[in-house]
Amino acid sequence: MGTVVDAPAVVTEKEVVAENMLGDKKVTVVFVLGGPGSGKGTQCSNIVEHFGFTHLSAGDLLRAEIKSGSENGTMIENMIKEGKIVPSEVTIKLLQQAMIKNENDKFLIDGFPRNEENRAAFENTKISPAFVLFFNCSEEEMERRLLGRNEGRVDDNIETIRKRFKVFVESSLPVIEYYDAKDKVKKIDAAKPIPEVFEDVKAIFAPYAKAT
Ligand SMILES: *[C@@H]1O[C@H](CO)[C@@H](O)[C@H](O)[C@H]1NC(C)=O
Ligand SMILES: *[C@@H]1O[C@H](CO)[C@@H](O)[C@H](O)[C@H]1NC(C)=O
Repeated sequence: MGTVVDAPAVVTEKEVVAENMLGDKKVTVVFVLGGPGSGKGTQCSNIVEHFGFTHLSAGDLLRAEIKSGSENGTMIENMIKEGKIVPSEVTIKLLQQAMIKNENDKFLIDGFPRNEENRAAFENTKISPAFVLFFNCSEEEMERRLLGRNEGRVDDNIETIRKRFKVFVESSLPVIEYYDAKDKVKKIDAAKPIPEVFEDVKAIFAPYAKAT
């Protein structure tokens, strides 16, 4: 049989980095996306409690870095003050450090990738998400929930809330579409009551159930 044996390909340093490895730890990453008021925070807590994931919020990590007063924290603070977008690399570095420091190997990454640039930059880490959990909720329902949280000051809130929706649609929907095309999006009808949403979440996470 004339099997053609390919000459061994030259392995570049980049290719040596195996898929989903972080140092010597193999990690499972789930991206969690959803608009403001979609209830993803509540469900993240449920997933942490029932399925043993560690919850990482990109926003929280950035705020913690600023609060630490480190050189990087000061840089991040200044960028935000100047209205600049914090480079994806900075956020990704914080996510990687948090995953390395944590003993767990299953992570929910909440509110990231926020846009296509974040998404593309994360691909350089060679960690690809197991799937993307998308809490889909109508703007009417999210608005109702957000307004219900803080009574009074309704008028200026509506304006702010709608701006946040717009940013979400413009920045994050393309990310969801990208992963949808790869069949990696698990869409949740987040307009339902919290316990019903959690039933749907449970069905998705069943394969990741904690060993007892
Ligand atoms: C500061 O940020 C740079 C660039 O993102 C990174 O290489 C470095 O490790 C960070 N330093 C600390 C102490 O986190
Ligand atoms: C969210 O759900 C609505 C109603 O089911 C649907 O029309 C819409 O396409 C969904 N949005 C996305 C981004 O999938």
